[in-house]
Amino acid sequence: RRSEHKAQYHILDEASAYYQRQLKEHPSRDLAVNYLKSRGLTGKVASFFCIGFAPSGWDNLINAVGGTSEKANLLELSGMLIRHEEKDSLYDRFRNRIMFPIRDARGRTIAFGGRVLGDDKPKYLNSPETDTFHKGRELYGLYEARKLTQKLERIVIVEGYMDVISLAQFGVTYAVATLGTATSQQHLERLFKTVSEVVFCFDGDKAGRKAAERALETTLTSIKDGQEARFLFLPEGEDPDTLIRAEGKDGFEKRLNEALPLSEFFFKSHSQGSDMTSIDGRARFSSEALPMLQQMQPGLLKQMMIDKICEITGLTLEQINSTIQLVPTSAS
Ligand code: CTP
Ligand code: MN
Ligand code: MN
Ligand code: MN
Ligand code: MN
Repeated sequence: RRSEHKAQYHILDEASAYYQRQLKEHPSRDLAVNYLKSRGLTGKVASFFCIGFAPSGWDNLINAVGGTSEKANLLELSGMLIRHEEKDSLYDRFRNRIMFPIRDARGRTIAFGGRVLGDDKPKYLNSPETDTFHKGRELYGLYEARKLTQKLERIVIVEGYMDVISLAQFGVTYAVATLGTATSQQHLERLFKTVSEVVFCFDGDKAGRKAAERALETTLTSIKDGQEARFLFLPEGEDPDTLIRAEGKDGFEKRLNEALPLSEFFFKSHSQGSDMTSIDGRARFSSEALPMLQQMQPGLLKQMMIDKICEITGLTLEQINSTIQLVPTSAS
């Protein structure tokens, strides 16, 4: 089992080296290089993130890296090759795409994201879950952030590969991206082992705001005293990549410094749609917010947020507790 994993890591590193080589040597490399240039990436940042190019064609990777049946088998296990059931043959999963290798904490390649060069669909294709790649655990760019920043103090969580890379290019060298999935408890656990502050910075669009709401719920239930989470909302139509190109490092870091604390986002989000000047509105707000607070880890943040609810609603803690038990009573 172990040695099989080891061989899988090795073959993915080989695949990564192959894709990087194609960006330098393939006859149609200009297509890929020009695309990366059009996105404003420097060669330096592209090579730091080991960006590569998967040429078009169905059997490039198999032929270059999967020469033996053992290696082809490993590539299949790693999600790099897909089996055509009727023909009982294998073909390359990633074709005609810019390749972003995803590395684990030790720098081993564990998966890839591949982007089309134009506007085709799907825009991104990612490796499937495998023995060595668990999306709910891994964060794109964490390995690189650790290498780029001596002492990490905060980490910015963004949506995409290009966001991580652009931020790094412009000097915000502490961004990571979840891999097309929601931020999980495991992601947060891992991040809070490294830093005490995370800032969520999703795209300034409907999907991004939805992702922030979900991250709010996940973070609220797991955050402990000594950990800090904040939310940066971008102007409509912007993502971290476009914004840092427009405003530079200083502009972006200024926004980060002013990002909304978790508790403020919580109260803002749950009071939205309720008329807080009426009893009815405050009751509706409470019935929505209290069950959420109930799920928080015990600690100062929870207590202070409960205090705030009391302040907003005019209810005492005893009154609230008689409806929904927020804090364990001495009896329990
Ligand atoms: N994503 C994905 N599959 C898709 C679309 C998106 O896995 N079909 C993931 C990718 O990790 C992507 C992220 O969601 O980076 C954010 O999506 P989006 O904002 O649409 O893409 P960008 O990262 O902004 O990509 P680009 O700037 O290259 O257009
Ligand atoms: Mn495993
Ligand atoms: Mn988006
Ligand atoms: Mn983008
Ligand atoms: Mn985006």
